[in-house]
Amino acid sequence: MHSLFYFYPGLALILSLYMYSFADLVNIFEERLMAAQPFKGNPDSLYEPCRYLLQLGGKRVRPVLCLMANELFNDINEDAWHAAFGVELFHNFTLIHDDIMDKAPLRRGHATVHARNGLTAGILCGDVMNIYAYDSLSNITQNLPQVLRVFNRTAIEVCEGQQLDMDFEIRNDVTLDEYIHMISLKTSVLLACSLKMGALVGGALGDNANKLYAFGKNLGIAFQLQDDYLDAFGAPEKLGKQSGGDILANKKTFLLVKALQNASTDLRTAIESLIAGNDEHKVPSMLQLYKDTGADIQCREAVEEYSRNAFGCLEDVAIPSRRKQPLLELARYLLERDK
Ligand code: IPE
Ligand code: IPE
Ligand code: MG
Ligand code: MG
Ligand code: MG
Repeated sequence: MHSLFYFYPGLALILSLYMYSFADLVNIFEERLMAAQPFKGNPDSLYEPCRYLLQLGGKRVRPVLCLMANELFNDINEDAWHAAFGVELFHNFTLIHDDIMDKAPLRRGHATVHARNGLTAGILCGDVMNIYAYDSLSNITQNLPQVLRVFNRTAIEVCEGQQLDMDFEIRNDVTLDEYIHMISLKTSVLLACSLKMGALVGGALGDNANKLYAFGKNLGIAFQLQDDYLDAFGAPEKLGKQSGGDILANKKTFLLVKALQNASTDLRTAIESLIAGNDEHKVPSMLQLYKDTGADIQCREAVEEYSRNAFGCLEDVAIPSRRKQPLLELARYLLERDK
């Protein structure tokens, strides 16, 4: 390759202008993941469900954010791939345990691990995936202590956010600030961490890595707002998850927090009795109340507000804007997605 550049210096320039798209990176990530497949050992009852979940796909948002952040600074390096695997394995671990906590029957269009293989498999597959996530990170050669610090802090915050999410199921007085705090912890810090890890192993200076983190925090909040919206109003066949699952579990989503906040006394009584009871029309009735209180429109507006904040943070990263185009495209896709 280098000798080619020696004879044709323009070629090096053309190649360095090329940056991977979201679709490119998902494809390469899938190939590498399948080739490196760590879940081959015994007992098969532990590892088969791990392979099952990973092979069902998923959007691969977090590893791609990590790789794109890395590419802001130079060509994507091996450390970035180790970080990308680590973050996707960690994410899949959280999904398995989240589905147990949320009693969810479906994930990525198929049975959840605990529904398919039982609770023990769900707990242990999650655990072993988490350890393999760390195993992947242990291969990183550049800035490993800094990477581990942000990753560990993030993993702790995800636990805190997940506990708050569960605590909120039995409360009807959750404020909007409490809700935003909870989703920052359970979801947005992992997107932020993915970006920061990619930047750190790309040799980024602290300031740029922190600005990317801020971009990820806002993007992650918009991402979870969109997740809440799709859980209520999305098309179940596209989403691959149980439709209305949040309503059935009395999750304090943006929609429910806002609906309770906006409601007149009559509407509030209607919402509270749906929460307390087991009405067979609970999901459609609650969706109507979200519309009647304007919570549905406010949720769309909140997605836009946090997206705007995210784009502002990305602008602040001291890198030529041309190099940020793939990240911008990915962010736009995430906020318009239907799955
Ligand atoms: C689902 O994450 C969990 C949330 C934090 C909302 P994704 O929507 O990224 O799930 P996959 O990986 O694409 O299936
Ligand atoms: C999950 O939030 C966040 C984590 C997995 C840490 P949700 O419970 O809303 O995610 P989905 O909707 O099941 O994917
Ligand atoms: Mg869930
Ligand atoms: Mg959950
Ligand atoms: Mg959800």
